[in-house]
Amino acid sequence: MSSGSPKVWGGRFEGEQDRFFKEFNDSLRFDMRLVAHDLVGSWAWAEALHRAGILEDEELERLHGALTEIGEEVSADQSALFASDAEDVHSWVEARLIEKVGALGKKLHTGRSRNDQVATDLRLFVRDEIDARLGEIHELQRSLLELATKHVETILPGYTHLQRAQPVSFGHWALAYVEMLERDAERFEDARLRTEVCPLGSGALAGTGYPIDRQALAESLGFERASENSLDAVSDRDFAWEAVSASALCALHLSRLSEDLILYTTGEFGFVELDDSVSTGSSLMPQKKNPDALELVRAKVGRIFGAQTALTLVLKGLPLAYNKDLQEDKEPLFDALDQLSLCLRVLPRVLDTLRTRQERMREAAQGGYSNATDLADYLVGKGLPFREAHEIVGGVVRAAIQLGVGLEDLPLEVLRQHAPVIKADVYERLSLRASIESRAAHGGTAPERVREALRRAKARHEQNSEHRAGAEPEE
Ligand code: ARG
Repeated sequence: MSSGSPKVWGGRFEGEQDRFFKEFNDSLRFDMRLVAHDLVGSWAWAEALHRAGILEDEELERLHGALTEIGEEVSADQSALFASDAEDVHSWVEARLIEKVGALGKKLHTGRSRNDQVATDLRLFVRDEIDARLGEIHELQRSLLELATKHVETILPGYTHLQRAQPVSFGHWALAYVEMLERDAERFEDARLRTEVCPLGSGALAGTGYPIDRQALAESLGFERASENSLDAVSDRDFAWEAVSASALCALHLSRLSEDLILYTTGEFGFVELDDSVSTGSSLMPQKKNPDALELVRAKVGRIFGAQTALTLVLKGLPLAYNKDLQEDKEPLFDALDQLSLCLRVLPRVLDTLRTRQERMREAAQGGYSNATDLADYLVGKGLPFREAHEIVGGVVRAAIQLGVGLEDLPLEVLRQHAPVIKADVYERLSLRASIESRAAHGGTAPERVREALRRAKARHEQNSEHRAGAEPEE
């Protein structure tokens, strides 16, 4: 801070701190982000000290008043934080407190260490961030559900090996990503359970020497319980790792969604068109309309997995208990959560404005012999073993390729040369419509099944609204 922040550990030292080392060591420039959580944690700690008989009523009131003021100041204007040369956010808050209430401010750190303090701040932060990601995932699922609702009957060529395989409903495609995102949300919810433990009152490593009611303290911060082991509590970052890891897997899914759409927007596919509002042009080639939003989402996953690796290697082999290494947990954690948030928020904009070119999709589904399995299934219906049917249809496909036509364009006599059991009813079976309708077992692409799946997914989405959508971030 501008008024000069005395070190929170200065007493033992005579020599001045090297300027370059100070910059290397300080974390305020990034951990200032935890200021609101630090203030909340400090508020609760003051209350716990009061309950333990260490602070008088009037002292508690003054500390609370000052913490509230600091909170109001920083939410209005962060410049004091930026200008400060405090070592970290915890020292900054303490110095501000001392500026406001003098010697009383120095009492707040009684029985507390920055080690249990930072572990607590970070848990509060991760919990809030998880809630925000859950809201964003919920919103993206909403977009996908709307897309699916419009496109239950829209036929898309389904691919394996990026070769046309079998036709599917475009709604079925959208619902595939709803499922992935549901698992992502569940992983975040599961990670959230492990943030519910309060490290405050663990001291530097050995526990606090004051008669703190740690359960009451935990509850006052909205945690379920106090941590069981002080050594673990100050050095555990599993909860952060889990949040980063859930982010990475979610980003991985978003990269696949993006890649699908990037392909579908190309001239070669031409299945969808992005709205101008989420596309960019080329500085040289006037005809270009580029899917930058999707490409960035596709790429961000690398950064998020990088964060996971960074955090893993900070923790690897780290001896108990707190080590300064743990300060390096923050930037990867923040970056992973921030980047995922950006991706989750840009995608609804892309999907809500997406235009589909259903004729192109249908044409593409019609070509590429994606009804070959249907012909084999037809033969199975006529009593042939599937392997034999497969072999026969392979021959039919070869013949059709030579003639340069689709299976449905082959005259009946030609078809019958390959399999005499084939009758005129085969043509109906070779239609796209019949093809997707035939995949009617649970989880399949038959429009009837897709409609049911959509109904279930919407009901689940609606149910989740109670605890997920509440956390939707403001724009
Ligand atoms: N800035 C530190 C961190 O982020 C706070 C804890 C410092 N504790 C200590 N004993 N040096 O980890």
